[in-house]
Formats: sequence, structure tokens, C-alpha cells
Amino acid sequence: MENKLLPCYEKILVTGGLGFIGGALISNLLENTHANIFNLDKFGYASDSRRIDKKISLLNESKNRYTFIKADLFNKSHIEEIISEISPDCIFHLAAESHVDKSISSPQNFIQSNVVGTFNLLESIRNNWLKMSESKKSIFRFLHVSTDEVFGSLGHSGLFSENSSYKPRSPYSASKAASDHIVDAYFHTYGLPVLVTNCSNNYGPWQFPEKFIPLTISKCLNRQNIPIYGDGQNIRDWIYVDDHVDALMLVMASGKIGNHYCIGSSEEHTNLEIASIICSLLDDLIPLKVPHSSLISFVEDRLGHDRRYAINSSKIKQELGWHPSHTFIAGIKETINWYYSNQHWCNRFHE
Ligand SMILES: NC(=O)c1ccc[n+]([C@@H]2O[C@H](COP(=O)([O-])OP(=O)(O)OC[C@H]3O[C@@H](n4cnc5c(N)ncnc54)[C@H](O)[C@@H]3O)[C@@H](O)[C@H]2O)c1
Repeated sequence: MENKLLPCYEKILVTGGLGFIGGALISNLLENTHANIFNLDKFGYASDSRRIDKKISLLNESKNRYTFIKADLFNKSHIEEIISEISPDCIFHLAAESHVDKSISSPQNFIQSNVVGTFNLLESIRNNWLKMSESKKSIFRFLHVSTDEVFGSLGHSGLFSENSSYKPRSPYSASKAASDHIVDAYFHTYGLPVLVTNCSNNYGPWQFPEKFIPLTISKCLNRQNIPIYGDGQNIRDWIYVDDHVDALMLVMASGKIGNHYCIGSSEEHTNLEIASIICSLLDDLIPLKVPHSSLISFVEDRLGHDRRYAINSSKIKQELGWHPSHTFIAGIKETINWYYSNQHWCNRFHE
């Protein structure tokens, strides 16, 4: 049977597949390919297997094509063993510590997972890649999933693109920037066929409620104060997670080796606007005597808080034909409905 997408790949490895974006990617891969999917994840505090379990129960035949491997990228010998045993045809690398606030309070985990972990993975892959047959070598790809935060902070105007210089400003973005550079070095030095994506802020169902949008929705649903950093005027370019996943599939299928692709939806909003939109949509869904916006509460700003991120996605649009299919309003409505119907899932993390 032929794969619908990524037809040349029989064994696909995803790292970080129990996370928010990795879970969405694996669901897509299970549905749209016939490949065997391997999910390598350490099962950290933000991990959850239920999204994938749900997808597998809907796609009965996919059960035998999915394997979860509990492993920490920091453990080099274990990673070497796994890569040599699976010998994947392609790898989507998403495993990372991903919460900026946590990187400020505990930066060490970010260096271990994001920098040393990526290095350990690359070394294992390089050793395995050298042993591959010429035909397998020619199709092998390593896609490193990164962020626009590596470019630092923008003023009122301008957009990040593939030509922007790296100016990371938080331990999280610095660790991602370091890993991007190491991945690029493996392309230039060893010829490893890598691809790098730099995407803007994601949102959607199943996102761990430490991140701004699910946190805001969950605070509203629990009638608790919604914390907004500083003056609430920090701007992000928000992308619905499935649009990011579509971009990753396209980059893996047709991206040019050694290239970076910037991904964003051109949906720039301040944090205060986002909170206000969520509150007003929840007013329609759950009318209260007092509007949800009365829960908005300004708190001390995050240290070194980047002011604005925004992306120019022309390259991926023109070269690969990618376009986001969700407007912010459509995506946020879907997201709110999902959190409203899955409050038990969200509240579990507050216990
Ligand atoms: N969320 C966003 O807005 C966004 C935007 C652009 C890029 N990214 C990147 O996308 C990737 C996924 O982000 P996410 O939001 O799904 O994060 P997430 O925190 O929801 O999931 C990350 C997953 O990686 C796993 N992991 C972390 N360290 C590991 C290690 N040492 N070994 C094995 N597994 C490990 C965790 O257990 C978790 O399941 C990250 O690389 C992140 O930098 C995220």
C-alpha cells in the first residue's frame, strides 16, 4: 500500500511526540502515511499520550504501526542504541524543554535537553547515516523543529525571515539557537541532510496549560485571575498547531537540504488582545453576570520579556506552496471549544 504523504518513508522517528506539537504531528502521520511511526520521548511533565491513543483507537490499523520509546536525549549511549536499532528513514526532531518561564528559573534542563540532547541525537544519526546504503542515504532527512525566538525581539515594524540574524535573549531561545547552529554545522561539515524550521507561537487543543492561551482559557473556566505580564502589549504571531504540522510535512517532503524555513500565520496580536478575545468568546459560551475580562490581572513582567515576534513566511509559501488554513478567530474558537469540553484534562495539571 502506498503512503499518501511522504511516500518514500517506511520508518519515521519523531522525538518529543508526547508533547503538544509532536502529538499533533504523530496523529497526522498515522492518518496520512502508512509508515511505522516511532515516538522517542522522555515522558516529561508536559507529556501526554492520550491524543495519540485516541487517534489510534479511531484508526484501528494504525496500532501495529506505532511504537513508543521512553528515552532521554541526554543519555547518549541509550540514544545510540535506539538509532542503530531502528535506523529510521527520516526524523522529525521536536523533543525540547519548551517553556520560557521555566528556562529562567531552571536553565540547566534546557541546556541538557535542547543543546546536549540535540548533539547526542546528531552524533548517533551521523554514525548510523554513514552505514546506510546509498539509496537509503539519498532519501534520509533530519528535520530540526525550532522557533522564531532565536531571532530575538522586534521593534514596532519588521518581520523575521530566513536571513534574520540570531539574537536569542532567554535561556530557552539561546538553547534553541545553539541547537540550530549545531544542526547547521552537521550539514556543512559532514553533509548530513538536515532541514530547519523556525516557527512562531503555536496554539490549539492538547497544549499544556502552562502556555499563555491554554492558561488563559483554563483560568477563565475555573473563574480565577488571568495573569498578564507587564502592560500586556507583547506581540506574538499566533499559528494554529495543525497549520504548523502541515508545514513540517511539506518541508520534510520537499524542503531543500541545508535550508531553513520560517513559518508563521501573520496573525499578530498583543497578549491583552488575546486575553480579551478569549474572554469575549467565553462570555458567549458561558454567560455570567460579570464578564470574563474582569478576571484579567496584570502581574510583574517576565525577566527580559521579548516585545514582538512576527514572521515573513514568503519562502515556504513560494517554494513549497504552504498556506495556513486557520484564521486566528477560527482556530481560537476550536481551541476554546476543545478546552471547554475537556476541562478534566486541563484541571488534572492543576491538582
Ligand atoms: N509551542 C510553540 O509555540 C513552539 C513554536 C515553535 C517551535 N517550537 C518547538 O517545537 C518543539 C515542540 O514544542 P511543544 O510545544 O510541543 O513542546 P512540549 O513541551 O509540549 O513537548 C516537548 C516534548 O519533548 C519531550 N522532551 C523534552 N526533553 C526531552 C529529552 N531530553 N529527551 C526526550 N524527550 C524530551 C518532553 O517530554 C515533551 O513531551 C520544541 O522543540 C519547541 O522548541 C514550539
